[in-house]
Amino acid sequence: MGDLHLVVDRSAGGLAAQIAREVRDAVRSGRLGPGARLPATRDLARDLGLSRGVVVEAYEQLVAEGVLESRTGAGTRVATGAGRHAAEEPAGREGEGRPHYGHRPTSPDLGAFPRQAWLAAVRHVLATLPNDALDYSDPGGVPALRRELAAYLGRVRAADVTPEDVVILTGMAQGLSLVLHALARERGRGAVLAVEDPTSARQLPLLRRTGARLVPVPVDGEGIVVEDLPAGADAVLVTPAHQYPTGVVLSPRRRAALADWAARTGALVLEDDYDAEFRFDRDPVGCLQGLAPGRVVLAGSVSKALAPGLRLGWIAAPPGLARAVRLAREEFDLGSPVIEQYALAHLIASGAYDRHLRRMRREYRRRRDALVGALAEHLPRLAVRGISAGLHLYAVPDAVPDTVPDAGTDMVPDASALAAAARAAGLSAEVATPALGTAEGRPVGLVIGFARLPVHRVREAVRAMAEEVRTR
Ligand SMILES: Cc1ncc(COP(=O)(O)O)c(C=O)c1O
Repeated sequence: MGDLHLVVDRSAGGLAAQIAREVRDAVRSGRLGPGARLPATRDLARDLGLSRGVVVEAYEQLVAEGVLESRTGAGTRVATGAGRHAAEEPAGREGEGRPHYGHRPTSPDLGAFPRQAWLAAVRHVLATLPNDALDYSDPGGVPALRRELAAYLGRVRAADVTPEDVVILTGMAQGLSLVLHALARERGRGAVLAVEDPTSARQLPLLRRTGARLVPVPVDGEGIVVEDLPAGADAVLVTPAHQYPTGVVLSPRRRAALADWAARTGALVLEDDYDAEFRFDRDPVGCLQGLAPGRVVLAGSVSKALAPGLRLGWIAAPPGLARAVRLAREEFDLGSPVIEQYALAHLIASGAYDRHLRRMRREYRRRRDALVGALAEHLPRLAVRGISAGLHLYAVPDAVPDTVPDAGTDMVPDASALAAAARAAGLSAEVATPALGTAEGRPVGLVIGFARLPVHRVREAVRAMAEEVRTR
């Protein structure tokens, strides 16, 4: 693209923000359509008589927002999903600012997807895969990936898994769904499923669709309160490595108690290991499955490590259940696409998966530190928790009355208002609601994602959030 009409007021300052706003408006109005190529930063800087760094900063901001896409060698273009025909806002967000740093607080930084490594893996697969391997494959997943995952989960998560226990799925969501379907089929009724309270509201429809009856069990500072698990439960769904949403790590005492409970009652533990790759401050905590392989289903995916859009996940389950889920896959839909499975196997085998995770762990840690620091500075009455791992933090409004004389008010904004303020400031945030999201459950806290929040944007975003809180 040779030319782009932008109006910049040099006397007003904030030049990068002005350029970003102009380009964003042009995309939203349809003046710049999806795929449209933007001028090189050097050319635009020259056209506008500004330094190149200003234009680079504006482009970076728009890439972080998902408005632009930038690829080495291919320049910068309007993102395919951006603009007038972009997907609708998720329900419940109308009238609020668009979350610039990802719709879900738990999403990874998609700009950091290892495109080159994935491309190399797919290239390798296409160059070496025998023709027959492109036929219908094992509905439980291609053997090469099951082998790599079994070894990886043993090495990194201290899991006790053989390749036969692993079933490849289109994500953890499908894993949980098919395990609960299998339980329902075995029992001739929907499973009685204990769930953490608070929990991920997004998962509830999926769980209910299997016919499961959900029973909330409280979470405290050590994780799920095992002694409150209901008698007669068929299974419990837990997030031991980093409880969603509170971020609590299940204590060693509770882990042992949960394994005991499962052995005593014959119930299953469904271990949602959704973001365990990203731990920052504490010693690695192995998965629960390694403690009780006969009673625990370990569910994982690449949704946080690589990208949710790959829809690649797995379960490692006791043999009978692994067989039932594999059979369900055969009967429902004949299994997952094979090229991606071989590509992931190659990524793991070549060490590129581990290298990517190590790099992202460092980067996410920097982002987390910046967000925690900025919140402490600008919103000191927010108690921040659950930051030892994962891609989000959990914040609860501090209930202690404000003693600062000039603070003006004793009111502590509730979690909904805080989440709305965070979203208006461009942060990715949502409320955590107790009692399975029922109407009487008032939000208890909020979740703020930091994976897509570049360090140099943190202070500005949190300052804007604090300003929103004051003016609401
Ligand atoms: C707590 C939790 N569990 C499970 C999932 C679903 O993972 P997948 O994309 O592998 O289906 C998510 C996705 O955000 C999540 O936050």
